[in-house]
Amino acid sequence: MPATVILGGQWGDEGKAKVVDYLMRDHDVVVRYQGGANAGHTVVTDEGVFKFHQIPSGVLYPDTIAVMGNGMVVDPFAFLDEMQGLMQRGISLDGRLYISSAAAVVMPFHRLLDNLHEADLQGESIGSTGKGIGPTYADKYTRRGLRMGDFLLPKEELFDLVTRKVEYTNRVMEVFNAPAVSPHKIATDIINVRDLFAHFIADTQSLLHGFRADGRRILLEGAQGALLDIDHGTYPFVTSSSCSIGGAITGTGLAPGDIGRIVGIYKAYTTRVGNGPFPTELDDVDGASIRDRGREFGTTTGRPRRCGWFDAVAASYTVRLNGISEIALMKLDVLDGFDTVRVCTAYRTPDGETREFPQHATTLESCEPVYEEYPGWGGAASKARSFDELPPEARRYVEALEEMIGARITFVSVGPDRSQTILREPAYSFDTAGGTD
Ligand code: GDP
Ligand code: IMO
Ligand code: MG
Repeated sequence: MPATVILGGQWGDEGKAKVVDYLMRDHDVVVRYQGGANAGHTVVTDEGVFKFHQIPSGVLYPDTIAVMGNGMVVDPFAFLDEMQGLMQRGISLDGRLYISSAAAVVMPFHRLLDNLHEADLQGESIGSTGKGIGPTYADKYTRRGLRMGDFLLPKEELFDLVTRKVEYTNRVMEVFNAPAVSPHKIATDIINVRDLFAHFIADTQSLLHGFRADGRRILLEGAQGALLDIDHGTYPFVTSSSCSIGGAITGTGLAPGDIGRIVGIYKAYTTRVGNGPFPTELDDVDGASIRDRGREFGTTTGRPRRCGWFDAVAASYTVRLNGISEIALMKLDVLDGFDTVRVCTAYRTPDGETREFPQHATTLESCEPVYEEYPGWGGAASKARSFDELPPEARRYVEALEEMIGARITFVSVGPDRSQTILREPAYSFDTAGGTD
């Protein structure tokens, strides 16, 4: 069976992890392919709330194999914390987690650089999570970075390598008049912990092709969302990775033909955390109400998320960009109780109305949303367990979105729990019997 990709269609935090966890029951292998600890992925089960940052969200099933792909930027210290947190809750990753030897390494100084860059931008900062993501990808692309495989070097060689990297970074830090960091301390810290994770490091590209050949069912878990993509998002207010479909290929080493379903995750409204244009943002009581009901506070930073109505122009753009074959519409319950709900169907620009999502953030900044209004629903979407049990107005809202964005909504989420999930035809069925692959 070809791999399934789950990716965010908006500005992140769409509820990707809930869908990963849900679909994991029909898959064997879960792979993160880009980003790093900037991600905050929440799964709610009977055992409580789990928040994942670097470890793939599908690991709650004990037989799942988890892979952290080459497109990721891996912070080894944060990884160890996350792994220990899971172990304390009885979840062991031994023998079933692999970290790509080609994944870039986030060093402690990358976090410092992230904050220095942000401070330097002053009023125009990105609103980064401060996890060192941008500086680590920058080092990758200037070919100066460390890769996870470097941790397998003999001790002295690794010590020298890390020392040289820190010395270089100290020269960069001088530009910001920032105090130098100690090469000796960082190299020693790395040597001290590397045996705790070295056994997870592997050639994951080759492993994944092996899993494919063995008929194991692979689920690729995107982080962030397509509007934060380094190439196709609202640059410069984006993250530094490919969080649209291309990243699933480059970040794993799988081939395009290895991909089957591409499931786009969208909230029934829109949120954004950090800075940058957001045409449907609500700076009023409705926005505050969505934030309260949706508990829209960052999983990684705790920052309040900016909230607004569903933007069908942006959503159509990311459906097309990613070749999304089906949609999971999340958090419909958060709109329970509104008298009316609105959807942005076009942008009003100085040159007239458009349904094309502009390529430049400054152009998007000047776009005014054109809204269509839909009646709200009195009943609780959160109580429905089938599409027919949804209040009729909520059903109409889902169908209207589907028509506007041109993709089938096959999964409607009406609460954080696994049980608060509605599947629509074509139902998710990953049974390989009779499949074409
Ligand atoms: P991700 O980064 O895309 O995985 O999403 P986050 O975990 O950052 O944020 C989604 C939040 O919404 C989490 O707290 C989830 O538990 C919660 N959530 C997911 N689906 C639903 C839903 O349908 N309704 C409600 N009310 N909450 C949901
Ligand atoms: P998940 O996977 C929402 C945002 C930050 C900032 C910009 C750049 O949980 O959906 P970075 O730290 O990457 O340099 O920040 O991107 N951002 C996210 N917003 N969800 C995320 O991840 C995000 N990861 C980064 O807020 O605006
Ligand atoms: Mg998140």
